[in-house]
Amino acid sequence: MKIEITEQQRSEISADIEIICVIDKNLDHPWVEDKESLQLLGFEGGQDETCLLAESRRIYVGASSLHHDDIRSAYAAAIRALKKTKVSSVKSGLYLDNECMTQNIKAMVEGLILGDYEFDTYKSEKSKHPIQTVTLACEDFNGQTVDCERAKEAVTKATITAEATNFTREIINTPPDDMTPKALAQKAEELAKANGLECTILDENGLEAENMGAFLAVSRASAHPPRLIHLAYKPENAKYKIALVGKGLTYDSGGLSLKPSDYMVTMKADKSGACAVLGIMKAVSELGLPIEVHGIIGATENMIGGNAYKPDDILKAKNGKTIEIRNTDAEGRLVLADCLCYAQEKVAPDYLLDFATLTGACVVALGEYTTGIMGHNSELKHSFAKAANKAGELTGSLPFNRYLKTLIKSNVADVCNISSSRYGGAITAALFLDHFIDEEYKDKWLHLDIAGPAFVEKQWGYNPVGASGAGVRMTVKWFEQILKK
Ligand code: BES
Ligand code: ZN
Ligand code: ZN
Repeated sequence: MKIEITEQQRSEISADIEIICVIDKNLDHPWVEDKESLQLLGFEGGQDETCLLAESRRIYVGASSLHHDDIRSAYAAAIRALKKTKVSSVKSGLYLDNECMTQNIKAMVEGLILGDYEFDTYKSEKSKHPIQTVTLACEDFNGQTVDCERAKEAVTKATITAEATNFTREIINTPPDDMTPKALAQKAEELAKANGLECTILDENGLEAENMGAFLAVSRASAHPPRLIHLAYKPENAKYKIALVGKGLTYDSGGLSLKPSDYMVTMKADKSGACAVLGIMKAVSELGLPIEVHGIIGATENMIGGNAYKPDDILKAKNGKTIEIRNTDAEGRLVLADCLCYAQEKVAPDYLLDFATLTGACVVALGEYTTGIMGHNSELKHSFAKAANKAGELTGSLPFNRYLKTLIKSNVADVCNISSSRYGGAITAALFLDHFIDEEYKDKWLHLDIAGPAFVEKQWGYNPVGASGAGVRMTVKWFEQILKK
């Protein structure tokens, strides 16, 4: 699907169908030219409600308000409805809010591209009539003046970000026997080649040489060997240096602390943090942001077998700390521990962010749609949450405290990989990671638990069944925000 913006008026553009938004159920707006038909058909204009009027060549879609996320969602709903038809070209005017001209243009474009995505790679029969083009007119429904040059730039930027999100979704959705650690590393290499990134891949021997005893233990029982993927985007005049670390469990069976069958399904999505990092690397390099960004991914499976790591084992991480294993299903933190050490040592970043489907507890705490934000630096947490909100992603901050910290003490090692309490699991997992953050990085570090939103088995807003690409848009937005400072 190609989205373009033109200086023509809506009426001058030829297309099969026009998308008209009904804002706050107001059918009296002059752009709503089919009020009587709509009323006859019982269309009220509720959020995401659509009504296709073939004769007048219009599809109406409801948005509760001009808030960017309502617009994003409405455009996704419209494109989904049109995908079921033989329509191939679409046009639309603009629905700007009063604050920022580009915000809703970006939301419209993102809604279209995100709403158009579905995971049909493995279906023999794919959608036969894809939408080819969407043409936006530089014409606002409330008569606001539109700077067409800035509007064009907004369309380009939003297209890059939304396509990077779909790129992330597709890799997450790919089944575990096809998206192995090796295959994930190959994806990274392809991306590096296409986008001019540096790419370093470590195999088991490389991990051994880096003393990554925790990562290696997790990977031991898998038929698919592990990979550490290190991508780097190094523009000239970089204003910051940022390291992104992603949990890349291409499959999490739980290991010897085996997951019950019902909980094992969807664990192909335990690589969502890694895939978000890949999507962010794709977006920043295509946007050409003046930030040096490193993407570090720990890719492995967590499986069972005669050589599997065990509860009662004591592992040694890259920074020399010993870890008592009491549950092999708390494996993500082990992989991240070594990768976080690697990031600090090799990159020495200004900010260190990790993305992981780390705990079921985070989903219990915040619900399925919300990313958990954790870290020591309140200002950093706050600025990230603000950016996420502007990108249309939900976040909730989960606070550390000194009592929770004591729950991961071990009698036999420096730290234990699970908490002694059944409560507060998202936070105790983050406090485990904290053992692998050096003093000088404490305030530079942010942990993002995307276990809830990364993969949901039902459609929500502009997100399809399956992977959502959580983490990509919020991080790109945060990058844009820190560059404004
Ligand atoms: N990958 C899971 C976390 C998860 C659960 C992600 C549900 C997405 C949806 C992680 O490796 C895990 O199994 N965590 C355990 C930790 C426990 C053993 C302390 C959990 O959350 O139950
Ligand atoms: Zn697990
Ligand atoms: Zn896991």
